[in-house]
Amino acid sequence: MDHNTYIPKLAKIIEIKEEVGGARPIKTFRTQFLSTNNFSFHSGQCAMLSVFGKGESIISISSSPLLKDYLQFSILKMGRVTSSLHEMQVGDIIGIRGPYGNSFPVEDWKGKNIIFIGGGIGLAPIWSVLNTALSIKKDYGDLMLIYGARTSKDLVFQEELEELRKRMPVHLSIDVEEPDWKEFVGFVPQNVTDKKPSPKNAIAITCGPPIMIKFVIKALEGLGFKDEQIYTTVENKMKCGIGKCGRCNIGVHYVCKDGPVYSWAEFKKLPQEY
Ligand SMILES: Cc1cc2nc3c(=O)[nH]c(=O)nc-3n(C[C@H](O)[C@H](O)[C@H](O)COP(=O)(O)OP(=O)(O)OC[C@H]3O[C@@H](n4cnc5c(N)ncnc54)[C@H](O)[C@@H]3O)c2cc1C
Ligand code: FES
Repeated sequence: MDHNTYIPKLAKIIEIKEEVGGARPIKTFRTQFLSTNNFSFHSGQCAMLSVFGKGESIISISSSPLLKDYLQFSILKMGRVTSSLHEMQVGDIIGIRGPYGNSFPVEDWKGKNIIFIGGGIGLAPIWSVLNTALSIKKDYGDLMLIYGARTSKDLVFQEELEELRKRMPVHLSIDVEEPDWKEFVGFVPQNVTDKKPSPKNAIAITCGPPIMIKFVIKALEGLGFKDEQIYTTVENKMKCGIGKCGRCNIGVHYVCKDGPVYSWAEFKKLPQEY
């Protein structure tokens, strides 16, 4: 009998890092499959994670596909499944099925400058594509990260961001002033306008809350970026992840199969119900 696509592969949690505490906690989980790892994916794709007895959640893979040792997920605690994941310990077993969805066309971007623009947990899908581009940096032009969160405590990957500064420009922001904060204060779209990345031979990728994405795109348009130069992810609610249940659709498009990655030019052609 063919493998049933709904049956997850078992994976062990090998590392857990608390990224953000407080009321909207985020943890990063590294996992390894119990049996041979033939899970091949591309940056931008997601996986359906299961906590047995609780349910499943679709989560972006935040590690680069070039890293073969583990799969990484950064998860904001929201409801039943993500809360159960946050209670898990190193050594616990979860289910993983996928990978699902399309991916960032990184091959087509070789030779181009890439501006990564994220807000909050939106850095998770960006982190995969950013690290892929960074691993083969000579194939790309200039790389730049513009990333923000509500407060300095809400920024994810803080240690990694400090390391990243040694290799590419990193422009952080927080929404409101804090005593020791030396970088930009304001919303992410304002930081984009402030840093003025050039649209020349460039691609901009933006992931985060829908309201942030909307104004980041306006800011990019103001700087001269064309629709074809802007990419984003659409995070509609999902159930099956494989184009069967109709939970994620925009018109006839299934975000779980046709997305979650869209260029702004493609996205504008979708029915405007999103
Ligand atoms: C393509 C895609 C990629 C994603 N990647 C990540 C990721 O990398 N990290 C991460 O933390 N989360 C990610 N999410 C969101 C994540 O799937 C949901 O937060 C999670 O499924 C909630 O499950 P739950 O059982 O914990 O919450 P539930 O009990 O199902 O719901 C709790 C609350 O969360 C809301 N919610 C559920 N799903 C979503 C959603 N998709 N968008 C907004 N609100 C939602 C519900 O309306 C409800 O208010 C992604 C979603 C999509 C569609
Ligand atoms: S999640 Fe079921 S069709 Fe997309």
